[in-house]
Amino acid sequence: MVKISPSILSSDYGNLESELKKMEECGADMIHVDVMDGHFVPNITLGAPIVKCIRKATKLPFDVHLMISDPYKYVPDFAKAGSDIITFHTESDSDTEKTIDEILSLGKKAGLSVKPGTPVEEIYPYLDKLSLVLIMTVEPGFGGQSFMEDMMPKVTAVKNEICRRGLKNIDIEVDGGINKDTISVAAKAGANAFVSGSALFGSDDIKKTIAEFKKSATI
Ligand code: DX5
Ligand code: ZN
Repeated sequence: MVKISPSILSSDYGNLESELKKMEECGADMIHVDVMDGHFVPNITLGAPIVKCIRKATKLPFDVHLMISDPYKYVPDFAKAGSDIITFHTESDSDTEKTIDEILSLGKKAGLSVKPGTPVEEIYPYLDKLSLVLIMTVEPGFGGQSFMEDMMPKVTAVKNEICRRGLKNIDIEVDGGINKDTISVAAKAGANAFVSGSALFGSDDIKKTIAEFKKSATI
């Protein structure tokens, strides 16, 4: 199933409630919440208290992307705040298995992500426990960067591995530089979930853009 996950990194932080409601009304499937600590990536965004405040604005699942050095430490906060899927990076300082188990023990879905320079195979040992694999198609840290098409072999490789193992219900998500052209490239490579920040929030007809995204991603 094709899922569109608008990244609030590109939203108006002063009006998050209405920004989320707008995305829900326009056909988004999840809300992508980019959490940055100024250490794992050179930018700072928001923490669990904000997630808690915006939770009531929409019924859409929160697809929380932790770009932080020690996700293990903060998983309980983000779980309590109302996250549905908690994704963190293999490159973080936390123990990967322990962090996934912590997310699952709190009744949440676990996602694992790799930065552009990290082989996707680093995710394979944990696939059986995951609900989402997030392949970064930009260097994490900022919205508005260009899509890295050379990440597509990673998308295809993880899709093949998921099929080979007969695993079900794992979303393959791409994040960074998704627009109406790049989304079909990623979909053809095997992705089914698409984060979009600047292209969606910058659109003057979000409903139409989401509909176009879904059409382009349906293969
Ligand atoms: C980058 C973030 C992305 C980003 C996507 O570190 O993880 O979610 O906001 O923004 P666009 O779609 O503008 O590349
Ligand atoms: Zn993200």
